[in-house]
Amino acid sequence: MMNQNKIDQFREKVLTHMDARFNTKAPENLYEPISYILGLGGKRMRPVLTLMAVDVFNGSIEDALDAALAIEMFHNFSLVHDDIMDDAPLRRGKVTVHEKWDINTGILSGDAMLIKSYQLFEGYEPQIFKRLVSLFSQTAIEVCEGQQYDVDFETRNDVTISEYLKMIEYKTAVLVAASLKMGAIIAGANDSDADFIYDFGRDLGIAFQLQDDYLDAFGDPETFGKQVGGDIIENKKTILYLKALEFASSDDKKELERLFSEKPKNPEQKIEKAKDIFQKSGAVDFLKKEIENYTQKAFGSLAEISAPKENKMLLQEFGKQLMERSI
Ligand code: IPE
Ligand code: IPE
Ligand code: MG
Ligand code: MG
Ligand code: MG
Repeated sequence: MMNQNKIDQFREKVLTHMDARFNTKAPENLYEPISYILGLGGKRMRPVLTLMAVDVFNGSIEDALDAALAIEMFHNFSLVHDDIMDDAPLRRGKVTVHEKWDINTGILSGDAMLIKSYQLFEGYEPQIFKRLVSLFSQTAIEVCEGQQYDVDFETRNDVTISEYLKMIEYKTAVLVAASLKMGAIIAGANDSDADFIYDFGRDLGIAFQLQDDYLDAFGDPETFGKQVGGDIIENKKTILYLKALEFASSDDKKELERLFSEKPKNPEQKIEKAKDIFQKSGAVDFLKKEIENYTQKAFGSLAEISAPKENKMLLQEFGKQLMERSI
């Protein structure tokens, strides 16, 4: 209960800082989509993780707010462009930027958010600045690589599990990892602890994307906030698809391959059939075990961090909650 309060407090601090640091101006069609996407909320998981990491090493929360906001800004940029690439109609329960405005607006507003995220580091002292920006740039380029793999895989039929795992590590997990490591850098943690908290975030991030892939197919449309079945519509080679191919009967395997070679105008049947095969092949059970495995692996790295146990409890609890999320 007390811990939940602390997470809520961190989220509040991020939101207050966002209001202070961001104001819309002309041209409206550049800035309105930015306030729109930022205002739709979301879990604010990454900036909260930055503040939680600072807290682990008894650093200053205030000092970390710009970096935390930079991460959230970058995340929102990546979502606007991702929704264009995935042809997604819904984000956080509302219409996506490129559908509310148009694709060009989504591209440019996204670009502006990416630039703003870099600007947010300008206030850091040179030594810290250099470490933060270098981590940020390395992470951002990996996110691009992950996004490209994700798109390339749509039209490939020989994707392996290890390729999939690398793809989700890059598109999602490294940003979660960097969010935490930035907190460690700002708080002045030693290199070994900064690396352990990065590894914790990476494995938690992989578990998080596995859960995202599960919810994309099996989430509740009322609460999930994104189009349920979107990955199936787009022929995304998620772990559900890859493991179903491995585990299913040869008839189901053929059927699944056929379903994922087309993009029908009315995808309802495709979605139902694919979900059915995911479920009965045991792919869903496999995915759930993998979430547990990666979360446990993450906790292993958390245990290595040389901070008092009570400082790390909040992250431990957060990791447990993440496994059970439905949004
Ligand atoms: C969505 O991230 C993109 C993924 C990496 C799955 P979140 O699920 O953190 O999105 P918001 O910010 O809470 O909406
Ligand atoms: C998104 O992966 C990763 C990034 C935005 C970089 P997804 O395409 O699975 O994310 P959602 O499901 O649209 O949120
Ligand atoms: Mg997407
Ligand atoms: Mg995507
Ligand atoms: Mg997804």
